[in-house]
Amino acid sequence: AAVLNRKNDLAGKTIVVTAGGTREPIDPVRYIGNRSSGKMGCALAAAASARGASVKLVSTVDMPDSSGMTVIRVETAAQMLEAVRGAVKGADALIMAAAVADFRPLTAAGGKIKKNAAPLDLKLEATPDILSEVKGDFIRVGFAAETADLIDNAKKKLGGKNLDLIVANDVTAPGSGFGADTNKVTLLFKDGRAEDLPLMPKRAVAEKIMDYLATMLN
Ligand code: CTP
Ligand code: CA
Repeated sequence: AAVLNRKNDLAGKTIVVTAGGTREPIDPVRYIGNRSSGKMGCALAAAASARGASVKLVSTVDMPDSSGMTVIRVETAAQMLEAVRGAVKGADALIMAAAVADFRPLTAAGGKIKKNAAPLDLKLEATPDILSEVKGDFIRVGFAAETADLIDNAKKKLGGKNLDLIVANDVTAPGSGFGADTNKVTLLFKDGRAEDLPLMPKRAVAEKIMDYLATMLN
């Protein structure tokens, strides 16, 4: 019965998922990072794979059980951009769950910066915006990590990044966001529909997103 109940509604589809926070090098031993654990992206990859999709996971973190998926490990926003560019060729959907750094050091020092360099000035430049740069004929899903004005900010990203769906994520809500095993999100669709989900395990959030993705793709 368990086998009969299992959904296989993404069979034949190729889905690219990004996970984790990028790391932008300062010198050979240091980087600028963020609090992303990669759990939401890994949950999405696992859910898509379990439902029959061919999954390409572009990630900065190791995934516990990635058997049956193609995993491309990256560190920086620039590497993630190149990996995603390659992975989306022929793909049906791109889900950008990764917390891509917005800033990176203008230059990374070739050797370890010694402590007597303090006070140290780091000059930061913008990273490429992957969702804005990667174009193609596939469903585009983004996340919006916000600490204020969640819905307004997420709606701007939905339009600005030409997305079909944005997952608005209040990273300050209890049990939600970076590092947690649960998440509190609102799904906002291109056509104006919205679905406010209760706090639930990241895997359950992932299954909800896959329900909508399966509908969009079939
Ligand atoms: N994103 C991306 N490339 C970047 C930054 C973000 O593709 N350089 C993606 C994220 O993976 C996410 C979506 O864009 O799916 C929104 O990310 P978010 O950080 O919430 O928005 P930003 O556009 O970076 O704006 P800000 O951080 O200033 O709110
Ligand atoms: Ca950002």
